Amino acid sequence: MWFAWLMQLASRFHEPMVAERKRALFAGLSGRVLEIGAGNGVNLHYLPAGVEWTGYESNRHLAAKIAVPQGGELIVDSYRGQAGEFDAVICSLVLCSVKDPGEVLGGLFRCLKPGGRFLFLEHVAADKGTRLRAAQDWWLPLWRCCAGGCHPNRETSVLIAAAGFDIKFIERFDLPLGLAGPHLMGEAVRR
Ligand SMILES: C[S@@+](CC[C@H](N)C(=O)[O-])C[C@H]1O[C@@H](n2cnc3c(N)ncnc32)[C@H](O)[C@@H]1O
Repeated sequence: MWFAWLMQLASRFHEPMVAERKRALFAGLSGRVLEIGAGNGVNLHYLPAGVEWTGYESNRHLAAKIAVPQGGELIVDSYRGQAGEFDAVICSLVLCSVKDPGEVLGGLFRCLKPGGRFLFLEHVAADKGTRLRAAQDWWLPLWRCCAGGCHPNRETSVLIAAAGFDIKFIERFDLPLGLAGPHLMGEAVRR
């Protein structure tokens, strides 16, 4: 309940800062698309018409806020998709929060058709050796407790490559959000 409220509030600040990038990132989606950690449905209005959306959101308070598009499906109980089921997988601000990113990324890889696209926009670790990275490391235990398990110092691009994806592009950018300022968005493809 508390986390759902926090996410509603956070979306109001975060969304205007990333809207342009999300529009560009998600513009070419087609076919069957899986979104993990769909939150309150914040990405739905970026999806092109005709996309068949399947969303997974395990937080029932957030899931209740999602306006599921016609023909779409929302899964709230634990989800393990069929191998090769989706043309694309998308997520935003999720890989920082999952307990075992290697396991989650392995599952996403498996759900994609060969050649399928993984599109992501995440906040990530600052560069090693910077003051910001030292602060992310220091605040991690408290931050994780207060922000739904979020890790501000996660090296997400390394984890995506380690899961077997071919990275097509990654754009790093900074937002004025303190420990959660460093962001990246990109595309990776299942070999
Ligand atoms: C910070 S919220 C982001 C929500 C939304 N994607 C957004 O951009 O506003 C993190 C989301 O990750 C979800 N999540 C946490 N662990 C997960 C897991 N193992 N698999 C899928 N989603 C997970 C949470 O339920 C939550 O919706």
